[in-house]
Amino acid sequence: MEFQLNFNAKNHSESEVAVFAGFSKTEEKGKKKENKLVNSHWPKEVKEAFNSFKASQTFNGLSGQSLAFPLANGDTALAYGLGEKSKLNFESLRKSVSALHKLVADTHKEISINLDSFLVKSKLEESLTAIVEAFLLTEYRYEVFMSKKSEIKLKSVIFDSKLPKSKAKKANEALVAAVHVSESVNLCRDYVNCPPNDLNSETYAKRVVEDAKKIKGVKVKVLGKAELKKEKMGMFLAVNQGSDFEPQLVQLTYTPPKATKNTKHIALVGKGLTFDTGGLSLKPGASMVNMKTDMAGSSTLYAAFRAAALTGAKTKITCLLGMTDNAIGPKAIYPDAIVKAKNGKTVEILNTDAEGRLVLGDVLTYASEMKPDAIIDAATLTGACLIAVGIETCAVLGNNQKLINDLLKSAKNTDEYAWQLPIIEEFHNDMKSPIADLKNIGGSRWGGTAKAAAFLENFVDKDIAWAHLDIAGISGGQGAHKPYCPASGASGLIVRTVCDYLRNA
Ligand code: BES
Ligand code: MG
Ligand code: ZN
Repeated sequence: MEFQLNFNAKNHSESEVAVFAGFSKTEEKGKKKENKLVNSHWPKEVKEAFNSFKASQTFNGLSGQSLAFPLANGDTALAYGLGEKSKLNFESLRKSVSALHKLVADTHKEISINLDSFLVKSKLEESLTAIVEAFLLTEYRYEVFMSKKSEIKLKSVIFDSKLPKSKAKKANEALVAAVHVSESVNLCRDYVNCPPNDLNSETYAKRVVEDAKKIKGVKVKVLGKAELKKEKMGMFLAVNQGSDFEPQLVQLTYTPPKATKNTKHIALVGKGLTFDTGGLSLKPGASMVNMKTDMAGSSTLYAAFRAAALTGAKTKITCLLGMTDNAIGPKAIYPDAIVKAKNGKTVEILNTDAEGRLVLGDVLTYASEMKPDAIIDAATLTGACLIAVGIETCAVLGNNQKLINDLLKSAKNTDEYAWQLPIIEEFHNDMKSPIADLKNIGGSRWGGTAKAAAFLENFVDKDIAWAHLDIAGISGGQGAHKPYCPASGASGLIVRTVCDYLRNA
């Protein structure tokens, strides 16, 4: 879909339909309450055409209401309800625009939007961002493997504004950024939806590298099995032991144009399990379905990295994606095995299904050695996360409250949900083994998400701010609660949160 900004708008662009947003206001009439339309902000001719259209009385601006009517010059206008103006916020705007997409996308090739009537609290750039996100995220389909692909007719959206032209430059920047962010969310969804017989560690690494190479300021490196051995990543290699594919550690570095020695450096560490069978501690059949999405942490962080780089973020960002599958076979690591991590700690593997923390642990040590100012990891790490915070909320844990607060704020900024869980001493104690430094599962099922985070903390340099995002619930497969997320499959949630953090850091 293409977007155009038209700040020369006299009335509206010549499109198939020009959309004008109306609001509703409740008025008391005696004992009765009545919803009245607020459309005083519409251009005079549009108001006149609307008033002279008979059915216009049925439209009172309630959220989701729509009414097409002819303009004097023969063009078609669409009145679109956004509900009570005082209640409009960026998320309700996204939801309304998502419904608008569903209303017009199959029937119109090009529409124009009366941008000034769609503004939340007169905020031009933020409103435009929300609208573009809603269009592109709603448009998403995963149809790579469908013989017959759906046809979405809507190809072009023109934003008409009567605001002074001096506002156009910033609006245009916001629009371009929103397209980068939304396209990155959709790319994340593509990777996560991809089946495991097409996406394995090797093909995944190749695809990410190919995409990343096109981004200005990004350097690419891939570590394979030999390099991981050299790096002494005993935990990562243990997970990969049963696999037919090479483990891949994709390392991407974005350096901003005006970087100096003092430029802030953020490292991202993503879990990229292209399939998780559970290993020899095999998952039951029903729990194994959808484990192709076990690489969502890496896709989420790559997407956020990509969007941050494409929008010229001012921080240096290193993106580290640990890719392998967790397979069974004669070479697969046994439960009871004791392996040695990159940082020298020994780990008793009591359950081969707790594999994500093994991969992440070694990559977190690798990230720590770069001495970044902050490390953020993301992973579909624990089933317990779905119990703890549901399938709508991202769990946030870490060793630095400021970093955690910044991430929670970014989630608020982008209308995504995130909630902090504690890492307490008791959880650390529960991850100690009587015969090794650590074990990879706790002694009980309680607090599984936080105990996994406690395990990870052992592999992060204490002096580095670190946050862990458990996205097992939200990444997809459980069905989406947002209208601009697909009803099934990958959600792409939390990409916008991390991207907001990176762009504001
Ligand atoms: N990839 C899973 C976690 C998961 C579960 C992601 C459900 C998405 C949906 C992870 O590797 C795993 O298997 N975790 C185990 C840990 C346990 C053995 C301590 C779990 O949660 O059951
Ligand atoms: Mg597992
Ligand atoms: Zn896993």
